[in-house]
Order: sequence, then C-alpha cells, then structure tokens
Amino acid sequence: MNSSEIRQKFLDFFASKNHHVVPSAPIVVKDDPTLMFTNAGMNQFKDYFLGNKQAPWPRVTDTQKCLRVSGKHNDLEEVGYDTYHHTMFEMLGNWSFGDYFKKDALPWAWELLTEVYSLPKERLYVSVFGGDEKDGLPEDSEAFKIWKKILGGEDRILFGSKKDNFWEMGDTGPCGPSSEIHIDLRRPEEVAQIPGKALVNNDHPQVVEIWNNVFIEFNRLADGSLVKLPAQHVDTGMGFERLCMAIQGKQSNYDTDVFQPLIQFVAEQADVIYGENEKTDIAIRVLSDHIRAIAFAIADGQLPSNNKAGYVIRRILRRAVRYAFTFLNFKKPFLYQMVPVLADQLANVFPELKAQQAFVQRVIEEEELAFLRTLENGLKRLDALNESFVANQNRIDGKTAFELYDTFGFPADLTALIAKEKGFTVDEAGFEAEMLAQKTRSRNAAQTEQGDWVLVSEDVPTEFIGYDAVSTEARLVKYRQVKAKNKTEYQLVLDRTPFYAESGGQVGDSGFLESDLSKVKVLDTKKENDLIIHITTDLPLNLEAPLLARIDEERRRLIQKNHSATHLLHAALREVLGSHVAQKGSLVNEKLLRFDFSHFTKVTDDQLRDIESIVNQHVRQSIALDEKRNVPIAEAKQLGATALFGEKYGEFVRVITFDKDYSVELCGGTHVPNTGEIGILKIISESSVAAGVRRIEAYTAGYAQDYINQQLAQLDAVKEALGVQTNLAAAIEKLTTENNTLRKQLEQFELKQLTVLKDFLLTKVQEINGVKLIAEKVEVSSADYLKKLAFDSRNALPENLCLILAAEIDHKPQLAVMLSDNLVSDRKMNAISLVKELAKEIKGGGGGQPFYATAGGKDIAGLSAIPVKAAELLKAQLQN
Ligand code: ALA
Repeated sequence: MNSSEIRQKFLDFFASKNHHVVPSAPIVVKDDPTLMFTNAGMNQFKDYFLGNKQAPWPRVTDTQKCLRVSGKHNDLEEVGYDTYHHTMFEMLGNWSFGDYFKKDALPWAWELLTEVYSLPKERLYVSVFGGDEKDGLPEDSEAFKIWKKILGGEDRILFGSKKDNFWEMGDTGPCGPSSEIHIDLRRPEEVAQIPGKALVNNDHPQVVEIWNNVFIEFNRLADGSLVKLPAQHVDTGMGFERLCMAIQGKQSNYDTDVFQPLIQFVAEQADVIYGENEKTDIAIRVLSDHIRAIAFAIADGQLPSNNKAGYVIRRILRRAVRYAFTFLNFKKPFLYQMVPVLADQLANVFPELKAQQAFVQRVIEEEELAFLRTLENGLKRLDALNESFVANQNRIDGKTAFELYDTFGFPADLTALIAKEKGFTVDEAGFEAEMLAQKTRSRNAAQTEQGDWVLVSEDVPTEFIGYDAVSTEARLVKYRQVKAKNKTEYQLVLDRTPFYAESGGQVGDSGFLESDLSKVKVLDTKKENDLIIHITTDLPLNLEAPLLARIDEERRRLIQKNHSATHLLHAALREVLGSHVAQKGSLVNEKLLRFDFSHFTKVTDDQLRDIESIVNQHVRQSIALDEKRNVPIAEAKQLGATALFGEKYGEFVRVITFDKDYSVELCGGTHVPNTGEIGILKIISESSVAAGVRRIEAYTAGYAQDYINQQLAQLDAVKEALGVQTNLAAAIEKLTTENNTLRKQLEQFELKQLTVLKDFLLTKVQEINGVKLIAEKVEVSSADYLKKLAFDSRNALPENLCLILAAEIDHKPQLAVMLSDNLVSDRKMNAISLVKELAKEIKGGGGGQPFYATAGGKDIAGLSAIPVKAAELLKAQLQN
C-alpha cells in the first residue's frame, strides 16, 4: 500500500463512522501566544475542548501538518540520527467533541489497524494510564477493560506512567489520560529473544508507538491544578510516517515512499549512495526531513528571521545547511532544489507548496547563501585565531568560541569539529557557562507571570459586535493578571464587545470600560484563539456591575480607512505587477498601512505611480462596501475571493468586496462603508524585506494630506531659496553646473596663488650657518595646499633648505617643516623634532618623516611667534 492510499484509507474509515473530513490547519500558529507551530492535530480544536466555542461537527478527522521543534514537544536534535523522529510530520487524527468516548474510539482504532491495514495483531501492544498520586488520578480501568475485551486477554496491555500515558498540550490547556498503541517491527527471532512488551516505551527503534488515543477530560491551569472539563472528548494522533513504515514492512520511516523520493534526489546530487556510509546517511536524512519543515512553514507564511517562529525556521534551515556543507560537500545552495520534489509529491494533499514553489525556493536559496557566507567568514576567523590557540595551549577558550557562535552565527558544533581537525580543543565548559549567562540575561529581560483566569460570571463565549457597533453594555466574564518586569496588566474577557482584537494585520481597538464607579482604559485588544482579550492596567471597581464597553471611535475610523486601502492596494498590485503577487504580511494601524507581498524585483517608480493611481481611482469612485458574513468557503472562492495560504479558515467565512470585479477578499477586519472615506492613498516607500518579498508603506486621508503638504512645503522652501517658481529641476541643474565650474576655477586660482606665494618665500631666505632658513606665516586654504607649497619650495631650492610654515587652516593652527635631503643625511637635522618643538607654541603636537613633518594645535595666537622661534631654534641647534 503506498503512502497516499494509507492516508486516504484513514480518512475514508472515519468518514464511514460519520466523521467530517477537514483540511489541515496551517503549520504556523497565529492568535495563540502559547504556541508557535502546530504540534498536534488537536491544536486547532483547543477551544472546542475548553468549551470556549461550539464545535460545528461532533466528529471530525484529518491529516495535520505538525512541527515539533520548540516548547514542550521538541525532537530536533534527534532528527537524522534515528529512524523515526522528525521535525515536520503528518498526524492522522479523529476527534469527538463531547460525542463518543473510549468504548467507541478504542475498538475503531483496533479495527482500522488490524482489518483495514492488516497489521499483525500479535505485534501490537497497548498501554493505558496507570494513575498518578500527585494529580490524584486513578488508573484508567475503563480503557483497560475495553482493551482486555478486544484483545481477549491482558498480556499485551501495559499500565503507563503520567509521562507516557497522560497527554498534555503544553504547560496549560486541555489534557487527559491516553492509551497508546505500539508495534513491534523486529524479525521473528529477535521477538523470540526479548518479548516486544518489554521494549514498549524504551526508545527502541523497532518497537514504536504509532497511535495515541487521548481522552480529554481536564484543563491544566497555570497554578498546576487540574480542572474537570464540562464534557469528555476524544483526541487521537497517529504518526503517518511511522504507520507507513509499519504497513510497508520497513525498518525506518526514511525507507518508506514518504521520504525515498527526497533521499534519492539528495544522494544523486551529492554523488553518494544512501545506505553505504553512516555519516552521509545521517546528513541525507537531516536534509530530507528538514526541507519539509522549512518549505511548509514558509508556504504557510513564516519567513526565516531572527526572532520567535522565524528563528526556529532559520535554525532548522541552518542545521540542514551545516550537514549538507560538512558531510555532503555542498558548498553552494542546495536545499532549495529539493522543493520541487517535495511539492510534486504532496501536490494532492497540501497544494499550498506547489502553488508557491518559486517563492519558497527563492526564500530558501537566499537564506542558504547568507548562511554559507557566515560559514566562510567563520572559517576565516578560525584560521586567524590559530595564533591565539597556540598561546592558549591549543585550546579555544569558551569566550572566543561563544563569540564565534553568538556574534558571528558560526555553529558551535562546527567550531568543535574544525578545532578537532586542526588538533585543537574547545573549552566546552567555558562555552556552556557563557551560553547559560546569556540565557539568564534574556530570560530575566523577558519574564512574565500569567495568572489563571478568575471567573466572574457564567463562562460564555464572547459575542463580537464590532462590525456593527462601537459601544455596548457588557458584563465581565473572567479576568487574569499578567505581571511583567516593570508593570502589571489585566486581561479581561466580556460577554459581548465592540473591541476588535488584533488579527489579520489590523491592530486591536483601544477605548474604555465604564461603570457608575469606575472608568478603565483599554490599552489594546488581543486574541488568544477565539478569546477576545481586553488589556487594561486596572480592574473595574465592581466586577459584577454592568459595563459600558466603548471603543475609541476616531482611532477605529482611521484604522479602517487603512485596512480598506490595503485591499485596494492588493488588487492594484496584482493588476500592475501580475497575479503572482500574494500577501505575505500586513500592518494596519491608525497612522499607516504596510503591505508585504511576494514579488522578485524592485517595483519601479512608474509602476508605483500606476498602482497609486488605480487605487485612487477606486477611492474616487466611492464604491460601497459589500460585506458578506457566514459565506460557505466554496462559495467565497467562487466569488473570486483571494484566500491566503497559511490562514485558518472555517467552513464559513466573511467576504469583503469593493467592486466584485476589482477587490474580493476573505477578511475578518473592519472596513469603511464606502471607499470615498479613504480620501486619498499616498505611497511613501517601497523596499525589500526578505528574499522575494517587497514592502509598500502608505498613508491615507489626513495623514496622506499632511504628508503631501510637508513635501510641498519643502518644495516651496526650495523655490524660495532658488528664487524660481517653475522648472525647478532645470534651475537646480543649472546651479549644480555653475557650482562645479566655479569650484574648478577656484582651484586653478588657488594653484596660481601658491606659485606666487612660493616665489615670495624664496625671497625670504636667511642664511644660518650654511642653512637656508625660510620661516613664515602664510595664508593657504587647506592642509593639502600647505603640503604642496612645501614640496614646490623644496623643488625650487633643493639644497640646504629648512622651510618652516605656519598657517591657520579651518580655524586651527598648523605647522609644516620641510628639510632638503642633504640636511637630513649630512647635518643630521630632523623635521620631526623641529616640528615637535615648534608645536609647543601652538599647544599641539605632530609627527611625520625626518625630511617632512607637520603639526596641529589649539592656540592660533601662537602662530605669529613661529618665524622668530624657528630662527632661534635653528641657531641654537647649529651652534652645538
Ligand atoms: N494529541 C495527541 C498527541 O499529539 C493525540 O499525541
């Protein structure tokens, strides 16, 4: 059975048990501050379990793109070394939201594995929760009984600890006891030696967990306690790649048809054979695994960057480049070439990659290039450090190694590897100490403490009325306190609210919660999954009293002008640049709009003018907003709605249209009732934000007007300064040309002056003991001219010349001493010592060469004394 059939049979099986098949949520998580990436199939259903939201179907099934590289579930460092851990993997799942429970879930799991997939029953083991004293939970005797009946005995049932058999989404959130199914993939003689049961949950590569059935009954709170949920749910997760390994009779996930196309491609390009050398095999596995995580994260909108989720993707990508560089000898970007192989393979399941293939490749290639440069620079630094290694007894000290890693981005393990090759060691303990110190520093800076929700009234989902109203009477449902380093905030949830929570690029509303007793300012509004959280610095005085929730209307009006303008801009960009333009990010606040989109070259000035003018035409047409709520997604797509990859859309969506032939978008934001309200759009900048991603910033309405007025005011100032009203460019050009001509003339004039000055100096010779002294204060405009004067004079008087010049240049005193060569060689005179002595007069110091030296100082008044002082000095010197 190939992997496509295996996936399809899973979905078909649960569809036949009345499950609704839903698409995978994006792998990148938005609107949940506790999670960066989807790490389990159930993430997108968290609110159904917690009761924050009513599930649209009681039973669903899907295959979910998951990534386990950060937070509670983190497998990154194991990937490549073993046969069954991955960064990205598919999790097949079936869910019951308060519907069926253990006695249906477990028999179905068994039926699917043994009858549909025909896995051998005698190789399957199951585990059930053995209870936990700390949480006061008993063993799961119900699951035990169900399994005993299915298996016809107890020998293949194990009781597991909280670690293995109590599943939790994260430090807080829905959780419950679980029942895992493990399979023994060893050869019969190995099974005979050690029974599979003894190897369950023992990190054995061939006795592995394939399916986890979780019975969600609790919510774990921030204080560590468990609260029983109102309903009982089923959450299951089956590792698709492991399942394929079991069904296809392989010993490694990488030997299945999920990974083989990638593996063979890498091996071919690296000119090695997979399976012949452990080191290159690991590297090939790392690449084949990591490219999936990288490509899908980028396709779902997460570009590599230096913080948070972007940094996780950058780290995975860099880990892959390191293995490619070190073990497969790829010295040029390579990973990006793997994207088409992957995109073709999964085109039917996850079409988002194929649809954005060129963009994803471009981003990866640029990242690879940048990191390969970092590697090269690091290697050079390591070479340069060679001398200090020797001084440190062939050891790179921890601080230097950490600096290479932290400041220059050079991977620590590569430093160790190269050091080893060169016969040096790295002070690992010192490195770790530096690392720890840095972690502590950043943890202290970022620490916040979040309390549990305190329920005030019945815990109902919030009704959002912000599309239609700006104020409403509301009740406080619950609140919690968040303590950061220097401040305490409260997060409030209401039963109904007009406050729009930040999402889709639109900032959150601010405003007030008023009652008879108090008026609390709402600083911002944020989303946590479907919760709308009002952020305040205080709580209302009477928690139970009715509140008037009122947004800052003026601010909201400005925000929505920018949001609607963003839609018009998006449509104009596609019209002018082409349909490859896809939104890659946006920010809409009361001041400006910022729109990031995929496009490979700079947008030219002409194109920007066209784009701006198309938008403004649509503004002037005063197009009425056409807002449709609760449109079935298929219908929305038929309307021509631009859907974003990486967005989680429900079955029903909101469609925002400004002229059905111009701009139709799926959008949850707030908009102007009519494009005329935008007034005008003015683009203020166009730039690059990442490989293949451009950014446009623009103002609308009053801000645009102010901006235009500022620009015009500058223009007026220029006109006034130039004294012309029209054809400014020609006037400025004329001025520049004139300026250049004058500068040249001035130079020529100064050079002529210099000749006159030189001739004058030559009339001022004093003979002192065979030395021709010229010591004068002169007027020149630059140090260069002073130097030229000195050299020209020496050329005119090559023998026995001692020239001492004093000048004020740029309001500072300067001296120059020039000696003929024969004075230096035969009479041992030195310009440096002369200039140093004379510089005392101007409170300064200097240096240079024995035949020519200069000095600068602070005291201009001292310049006049120089000629006399010079003569005295020379006389004294020559007498000795
Ligand atoms: N949520 C469970 C898991 O991820 C099924 O293992």
